[in-house]
Amino acid sequence: MGGEIGKQDNKKDHPGKLTIYVLATSILAATGGLIFGYDIGISGGVTSMASFLNKFFPTVYKNEITDTSTNQYCKFNGQIVTLFTSSLYVAALFTSLIASTVTRKLGSKLSMLFGGILYFTGATINALAQNVAMLIIGRSLLGFGVGFANQSVPLYLSEMAPYQSRGALNIIFQLSITIGILVANVLNYFFAKIGNWGWRLSLGGATFPAIIIIIASIVLPDTPNSLIERGMPAKALSNLRKIRGIEQVDKEFNEIMAAGEASKKVQHPWKNVLHRKYRPHLTMAIAIPFFQQFTGINVIMFYAPILFKTLGFGDDASLISAGIIGGFNVLATLVSIYGVDKWGRKFLFIEGGIQMFVCHVLVGIFIGFKFGLSGIPSSPLQQWYAILVVIFICIYVSAFAWSWGPLAWLVPSEIFPLEIRSAGQSLNISVNMLCTFVIAQLFLTMLCHLKFGFFLFFASLVFVMTMFIYFFLPETKGIPLEEMNVVWKNHWFWRSFIDHHVLDDLQMVENGQQPDIVI
Ligand code: BGC
Repeated sequence: MGGEIGKQDNKKDHPGKLTIYVLATSILAATGGLIFGYDIGISGGVTSMASFLNKFFPTVYKNEITDTSTNQYCKFNGQIVTLFTSSLYVAALFTSLIASTVTRKLGSKLSMLFGGILYFTGATINALAQNVAMLIIGRSLLGFGVGFANQSVPLYLSEMAPYQSRGALNIIFQLSITIGILVANVLNYFFAKIGNWGWRLSLGGATFPAIIIIIASIVLPDTPNSLIERGMPAKALSNLRKIRGIEQVDKEFNEIMAAGEASKKVQHPWKNVLHRKYRPHLTMAIAIPFFQQFTGINVIMFYAPILFKTLGFGDDASLISAGIIGGFNVLATLVSIYGVDKWGRKFLFIEGGIQMFVCHVLVGIFIGFKFGLSGIPSSPLQQWYAILVVIFICIYVSAFAWSWGPLAWLVPSEIFPLEIRSAGQSLNISVNMLCTFVIAQLFLTMLCHLKFGFFLFFASLVFVMTMFIYFFLPETKGIPLEEMNVVWKNHWFWRSFIDHHVLDDLQMVENGQQPDIVI
């Protein structure tokens, strides 16, 4: 019954379409993803530049040029280089928790502004770095920026979007992450050729996406949901009319008002998240980002150039291959923008999972075949062999780019009721950043110990996560944001966690009455 409320009446009750205004604001807000993406793409290339390694990590550099005969799996195993990459994620982890309060009390726009300013400062310090301390301080500031932006942008997009195109609009965030990664890959390729200071340009280039998000945060309008939550209903109504391009927005407005009322009764969203009726939301806020990172994607994103060097590629070939992979990442994200509101979230999750599983297994076999357990190649790397590995990595990255990449931002941003939305999103980002940190920090050591089994380890995790989605994630396509509770109510496992009064509340909203939402 609950599902019917969501499905049958949506078109009539939420007549607003995707307006040019929403599209333009969403594209602008989604540029917040550029700062995150630029960073992911830049660190791998920079840590493989000889001049950078020689200046900051001379021992690692010496190993790289003198130690050609040792085990290839363990060649780059140095915690200090990984600390450079992963320090950002520790900072982002803590900031996303603070950002929840800023977003709830002051709105997403201010969270984006803080994010942009902190990121700009970090990029400037990194570009001028003279020692490892400056590098780490700069990266921590970048992390503070990413924490603010990733907390606020996906929520902003989901709240602005009409329900029929919420998936596509939200995924513009992931699209800009992938564009950021690609631009960084390409710049690394060229800057690596500039004397001893090309890495300074790579790191300093991060100031450009920071300026874009700063400007965006100033000119963007507030979402109606955020205005209501902050006690400005009249402005919220006029914004909603403008956003949807029609006058009749009563149903949606009433729902947002009801959600706003419920939200006001919640003084401690963090404590509330632990309430039994939020158990499904809490589970997804932890499981989805955890699984996203344990697809193994960032092994490729951060360390593709190093991984390719491990396989015996030359310097240029390593950076070019990373660029090709970055290109696939962008194009495949477009597939999910096209399909997410047509085929649904679960289909993409499951298809992507199967494709990634197969690729992990094959790449593991290829590498195992070549390097065995000793890590010493059986013969010099042949070109066709290298090309085969790159092709399968591209197929793997494409699968990620139309499944776990965008959906791990989209699904959490649409499943939380307004009263716990900011807190839920913060939890999602923190778990994501924590797992990114763990992978970034442990990758080189894991490769050294697990050898080619490293890829089989990720294959088994991809298997588990695909099963998890199949059994436990309800489909959220085509359901208005503030009616999302019906999907849990209809789910075979989660239904017993959701209180019955939620449906009654929805029915009251339907009838234009004030619901009695019990928190
Ligand atoms: C993930 C990142 C990843 C990127 C790759 C994002 O959704 O959160 O960790 O590097 O996708 O495109």
